[in-house]
Amino acid sequence: MNRRYRKTIIAGNWKMNKTPAETKDFIAQLKPHAARAKWCDIVLCAPYIDLPAAVKAAKNTRVDIAAQNMHHEPGGAYTGEVSGQMLRALGVKYVVVGHSERRQYFGETDESVSQKVRAALECGLRPIVCVGESMAQREKNLTLDYVRMQVKTVFWGVDAKDVKKVVVAYEPIWAIGAGAAATAQQADEVGRAIRECIREIYGARCARSVTILYGGSMNPKNAGELLSMPDVDGGLVGGASLDCDGFVQIIEQANQ
Ligand code: 13P
Repeated sequence: MNRRYRKTIIAGNWKMNKTPAETKDFIAQLKPHAARAKWCDIVLCAPYIDLPAAVKAAKNTRVDIAAQNMHHEPGGAYTGEVSGQMLRALGVKYVVVGHSERRQYFGETDESVSQKVRAALECGLRPIVCVGESMAQREKNLTLDYVRMQVKTVFWGVDAKDVKKVVVAYEPIWAIGAGAAATAQQADEVGRAIRECIREIYGARCARSVTILYGGSMNPKNAGELLSMPDVDGGLVGGASLDCDGFVQIIEQANQ
């Protein structure tokens, strides 16, 4: 973390979990802890149907709400989809874009992810863009080249003034749901390469203002070490964000 230049963010990605009633209870439990976490922004990425309950429960708290996906068009004949404008109208502040599960199971590509990033910024949402390599790529020593290519594609067409609104989440696919996270050194190495890539496009000032999260089996035990690295500015937490006590323990470590 480096709070001099950028925000620390802990985001919980619930994936396809929790009902509206569970959402309300979770936020009520989180609220007093969130109030104490002055140095760390807290985001909950909830399923679409939980968003109204989440926004309502998080009103006047330090918790911001994110969607887990959006369509790049503002409206139209796209059955089953939700636009950024709709999310904004609800009071949603962030949107996860290009999670590896969406790339793997729902056919999202770097190009469609890039379209969504621009669409999110246009309607005033902050995108949390996910990048990260597979184990096969890591084993072939392709990690840094691959992630750099992803970063260049997702920032394509993004105006310099909007760069710091983008949150980049480095999520190595092999560490997601695996029980074992990347090491702090691995997370920091890729975080540094992401920032370097942003610096090449937009310059040093822009690059140092971007919050870069790590995601993939982050939990209360490994969070402290991961967050101590200069280019790990927070976490995108999956499984360990479903239980409020565990999530709070991670927040407390990010708030130190
Ligand atoms: P886990 O923390 O469950 O590994 O999930 C990480 C993730 O995919 C967050 O978006």
